[in-house]
This record gives sequence, structure tokens and C-alpha cells, in this order.
Amino acid sequence: MVAGNWKMYTTSGEGAVLVQDIAEELERELDDDAIDVVVCPPFTGIKAVSTVIELDHLNMGLGAQDMFWEAEGAFTGAVSARMLTELRCTHVIVGHSERREFFGETDETVNKKVRAVFAAGMTPIMCCGETLATRDALETDSFIRAQVMAGAAGLSAEEAARLVIAYEPIWAIGSGRTPTPESANDVTRAIRATIGAMYGPPAAMQVRVLYGGSVKPENASMFFSEPDIDGALVGGAALKADSFSAIAKAACGK
Ligand code: PGA
Repeated sequence: MVAGNWKMYTTSGEGAVLVQDIAEELERELDDDAIDVVVCPPFTGIKAVSTVIELDHLNMGLGAQDMFWEAEGAFTGAVSARMLTELRCTHVIVGHSERREFFGETDETVNKKVRAVFAAGMTPIMCCGETLATRDALETDSFIRAQVMAGAAGLSAEEAARLVIAYEPIWAIGSGRTPTPESANDVTRAIRATIGAMYGPPAAMQVRVLYGGSVKPENASMFFSEPDIDGALVGGAALKADSFSAIAKAACGK
């Protein structure tokens, strides 16, 4: 899976153009069953992007960047699962580090959202990742395992198998710095093992674990060649059709 997180960039008009440009570059790859391409515009762009996907019959997933867990109610500013499924959203990013840092997201709210996304028939892309201080203290492994256990608690084994987890070291996001592919793979392997301990070997085999953090066309295939990395969650490089498409093409070669 290669998923583009557009963050708070693109108006709805710009998003519609971007998805068309991506589709043009990925004409062949979108129909390749070996890879799922997902774009995650801001809420206001979802409808326009969804319309392009539908009218052009694009084999592309559509994700939101967040969602509230309640079905409806007096929750000013929040967006529900039904509002997203009506617009044919297939995925929801949950617990991105920017939401944890700037919007008070915790492992507990992440877990509520993951379960609500599944209950609505969509696929959560659950993010986890350590700070530089945690890494320097050599606590990455235990920190990530705890984050995954809390975020993925209370699922069925079938849901766990369908889960997508994005490992995004916070210090690598938007910084141009990346872990070595081997050290990223150590963490994604630990994530897979955690899901295995919680939900059994089939879930561990099927859960998709992405790497995210300064993924670019130049480094994508290095990450994709690692055995426990099943794709990428891409931020900055997802905002240009050529760089996002180059990353998706690199994933096709995995
Ligand atoms: P980046 O962002 O690719 O710009 O580092 C990744 C992300 O935050 O999902």
C-alpha cells in the first residue's frame, strides 16, 4: 500500500486536479492487484476527489485524515463515520503524530477511533512512532509495542488482519531524515510480532505495516525491499503527482 497524507494542504479544487494527475501517471499501476494506492485529502476535499475517483472509474482508495468515534451528536467540528462512508471513503488515518501533538489524541482515543472505523466497514491506517528522545534512550521497541497494544486493543482477529499500521518515527516526519531501512524494519517486525501476540499468526501475516517519514522517490525502494515493510505513508512527496507516482511505482516492483 502506498497512501498519500495530504495533511492541511490543497483546496478541494486543487485536490481534484492532483488526483487526476496522479491517475494519469499511474494508469497501469492502479489496476495492479499487488498494490493499493490511497489518497487522503483534507475533509473539505473528500467530495471532489471522490467524484473524480467515481467518474474516472479509478481503482484508488480514499481516506480521511481523522474521524470522531461517536455516530452523531453535539460535537462541534467533528466528522462521523457515516459522513465519510457516504462520500465513499475506504480508509481513515487514525492517531497521526500531528494529531497526538496538536489535538490531544491519546492511545485511548486512537483505540476508540480504530474500532469505530472498523464498525463502519472502513480500514484504519493507525499511526505509531517514537520521538528522538525515546529513540536515544533505546526505548523505541517497548514504546512502539505499548502504542500498538493500546491502539489495536479489542479487535477481532479478522479486523486485526485487515488493519494497516503506519510506523512513523516522529523525528523523520517532514525532516528529510530517515532511519536506515534495516532499523525501520526492526520496528515494523516488532509491530507485526505484537499483533501476532495479540491476535495470532494469521493476523500477524496479514496486517499491513507501512513505513512513513520523509519517504521520497529516491529512498522508497530501499524501504520497500525490507521484508516487514508493506508500503509507505507519504506526506510531503504525496503533494506532487510525479513524486507520489514514482513512490507507488517503486512499490509495484516489490
Ligand atoms: P512526510 O510525512 O512524508 O512529509 O515526512 C509523513 C507523514 O506525516 O505521514
